[in-house]
Amino acid sequence: MSRKAANILSAQVILKPDCVLGLATGSTPIGLYNQLAAWYRKGDLDFSKVTTVNLDEYKGLTQEDPQSYYYFMDENLFQKVNIDKNRTFLPDGTEPDSEKACRQYNDILASVGQVDIQLLGLGHNGHIGFNEPDTFFKTETHCVKLTEQTIKANRRFFASEEDVPREAYTMGIKTIMSARQILIVVSGEDKAEIVKKAFFGPITPQVPASVLQLHNHVILVADEAALSQI
Ligand code: F6R
Repeated sequence: MSRKAANILSAQVILKPDCVLGLATGSTPIGLYNQLAAWYRKGDLDFSKVTTVNLDEYKGLTQEDPQSYYYFMDENLFQKVNIDKNRTFLPDGTEPDSEKACRQYNDILASVGQVDIQLLGLGHNGHIGFNEPDTFFKTETHCVKLTEQTIKANRRFFASEEDVPREAYTMGIKTIMSARQILIVVSGEDKAEIVKKAFFGPITPQVPASVLQLHNHVILVADEAALSQI
């Protein structure tokens, strides 16, 4: 799964060296980032002109916090390849004024131009980015209160459940849908049911990822376990 998804992202970088990649964190894309870094080390990929915009960031965490999404991106990709860090963007988790943080990120997104490929993972409840069930499809960057389910799912990365931030800044569904292409990676049997709902069920805000059925260029890359119900 990781190699196939990495092939798609690297083809984009090769075809358009100054492309804009929309990136995701979480456990699913780690293998993909490792693969991209390995191809970079082999001399097959050049990230020097690439711009990246990430989906989301926890509100209240600094870039140096090991649980921040900036830190994750730096560890898993940015410091392993020749990307210009001035061209890597995430929402500013240290900005306490949510409106300001979201406005600033929307401005950044507008200035970098259309995302060529947006990478996504899929939450167990169908969330994409931190767009939890019942998010309006027309939202841009906004501040969300994480659901109990997401706090529990993310708990594994923190010392205790109390340490999991309660809020995050995330690209909205409208922002995600405006990407030229979307690449969604999913693995594991525990995601099989939501894959079926998202891609073969009704399009509804109750399953945020179901909106992807309305996008004209979505690639789903998944392992057999995640596809076992379709
Ligand atoms: C990550 C993100 C989330 C994850 C989703 C799946 O930036 O926005 O939507 O993609 O929670 O996470 P994993 O891959 O850990 O199962």
